[in-house]
Amino acid sequence: MTQDEKKRGAAEAALDYIEPGWVVGVGTGSTANYFIDALARIKGKLDGAVASSNASAERLKKLGIPVLDLNAAGSLPVYVDGADEATRHLHLVKGGGGALTREKIVAAASTKFICIADDSKLVDLLGKFPLPIEVIPMARSLVARKLVALGGDPVWRQGFTTDNGNIILDVHNLKILNPVELEGQLDHITGVVTNGLFARRPADVLLLGGAQGVEKLT
Ligand code: A5P
Repeated sequence: MTQDEKKRGAAEAALDYIEPGWVVGVGTGSTANYFIDALARIKGKLDGAVASSNASAERLKKLGIPVLDLNAAGSLPVYVDGADEATRHLHLVKGGGGALTREKIVAAASTKFICIADDSKLVDLLGKFPLPIEVIPMARSLVARKLVALGGDPVWRQGFTTDNGNIILDVHNLKILNPVELEGQLDHITGVVTNGLFARRPADVLLLGGAQGVEKLT
């Protein structure tokens, strides 16, 4: 079974968590794209979606799913999104696609966060995947120095601008032993908009696509 088939399996399993009449929070990335495609099959039963990126909003609209502004939609019953790394505690690293800020906002506005991923994303310790941090452009060097002081090796994601007009620093070589504490520490660095740790508000359900089917972790 290919990695794409595993992603699609996890994405389709997330449909079980969607109820008629809902506005659904939708994430970003290749796994989330499979979820959007699956969602299109039941679009007649939905009130719409709130997207965590311009790219996902475009895909939703193309498939005929109405895209709502989060301010108009209010609280959402569910948010479905992928991850770059996930632990059995449902702590995540996200932001490989650079959409981490809007992803964290939509996750925060949602009652339930369903994470969908292929089984290669499951790790014992977060940090092998470089941790994405969205930074206000003028603070790039300042934030990078603070990250070095914390033991990381920040690398500026060249040629990339977020949907919010900011830059991304990908932090290599962090051993993330306490993701909840580190998430808070990083948020307190002046100039940081958002960091890619989703630990204070972890996923509620992790659907992992594997060769034997979809494993559900809660
Ligand atoms: C986007 O910014 C990320 O948080 C994605 O959720 C993450 O990169 C997973 O992407 P894939 O589903 O493409 O692996």
